Amino acid sequence: MTARIVCLPGDGIGPEVTAEAVRVLESLPVEVELESRPFGGVAIDATGDPLPDDTLAACRDADAVLLGAVGAPRFDRADIRPEQGLIRLRRELDVYANLRPARQGDVDLVIVRELVGGLYYGARGVRPDGTVFDTCEYTAAQVERIARRGFDLARSRRGRLTSVDKANVLATSRLWREVVDGVAADYPDVERDDQLVDSAAMRLVTHAHEFDVIVTENMFGDILSDVAAAVAGGLGVAASASLGDAGPGIFEPVHGSAPDIAGRGIANPTAMLRSLALLLEHALGEAALAARLEAAIDGALAAVPTPDAGGSASTSAFTDAVLERLATEEEPWKTEEPWRTRV
Ligand code: NAD
Ligand code: IPM
Ligand code: MN
Repeated sequence: MTARIVCLPGDGIGPEVTAEAVRVLESLPVEVELESRPFGGVAIDATGDPLPDDTLAACRDADAVLLGAVGAPRFDRADIRPEQGLIRLRRELDVYANLRPARQGDVDLVIVRELVGGLYYGARGVRPDGTVFDTCEYTAAQVERIARRGFDLARSRRGRLTSVDKANVLATSRLWREVVDGVAADYPDVERDDQLVDSAAMRLVTHAHEFDVIVTENMFGDILSDVAAAVAGGLGVAASASLGDAGPGIFEPVHGSAPDIAGRGIANPTAMLRSLALLLEHALGEAALAARLEAAIDGALAAVPTPDAGGSASTSAFTDAVLERLATEEEPWKTEEPWRTRV
């Protein structure tokens, strides 16, 4: 069956890296129908809305959404901003589980970030006295479903789960810990520990190799995933998959629109290509093909890195190297070794 994939290139380097992912996808032996839709700043310019109705409808009908990045400095002080489209799209598709793998050398971890609750979605506003507020809210059901995702993933990997919260201060974190306690009872085979977010951030910098799966709420996961990216090759290589229980997932880099390098043809497409690999695995059920793509990306990273990764390759030259490897490399799924730890 032909899979329908909606591309949302977005802003800044978003379209630059999305074009490379499309080039790679079109070279692979999968039947896909691709369509591109306006989203983010470009959609505000065209329609006044960062997530136009047509774009949302196309995403709902798709098998997967491949997203570049949104955001541009010209919207920094605007009332309608590109990021609002992203936040709404995640909620509309109910993609509550955001998997953000980080691997390099002896580091091999996945952050499971709750994506449709917490501070991003609580009431916010201005009181009559001028006080501005954002609120962090979670229900037990919201915590339970993300906790189960984390435990399931830990079970399929090295069997270790770290739940990160701020239970020494926050009511939502105390609920979080209580619910995780309950879910843990169903996973006696998973070794679980709790860490406070401040010291977890430090341990990610100093002892990243000790982590397997980290499950945490939305805002903590946003920050910790950039920290994890920094210890595993930088934002240019960090991918993500946002999944619900049904319906299309969103596959997007952890990085943003990188206005400082946009338009120069030097963005690292690795994060986007690894997001494509996650799409192949999770949306199309093509795990072997995903592993093959990951191997080709690793080869290109070692041979022709882009400037952020210590080299001088352009975005398109890097992708050329990936395509070359895909065309010639040995087929890793035929080996006995597990090719990589599951995500
Ligand atoms: P950023 O991730 O865009 O960039 C941070 C730094 O990392 C910059 O120096 C950038 O050049 C570098 N970088 C990021 N991706 C790279 C790549 N692929 N190759 C090489 N270098 C790369 O974060 P920021 O500058 O804080 O945010 C810029 C805009 O992006 C903001 O509007 C923000 O809201 C938005 N943003 C969007 C997303 C998303 O769409 N998912 C994610 C994060 C930030
Ligand atoms: C991310 C980004 C987004 C987030 C922004 C752009 C809304 O930083 O995907 O990590 O905070 O979730
Ligand atoms: Mn972020």
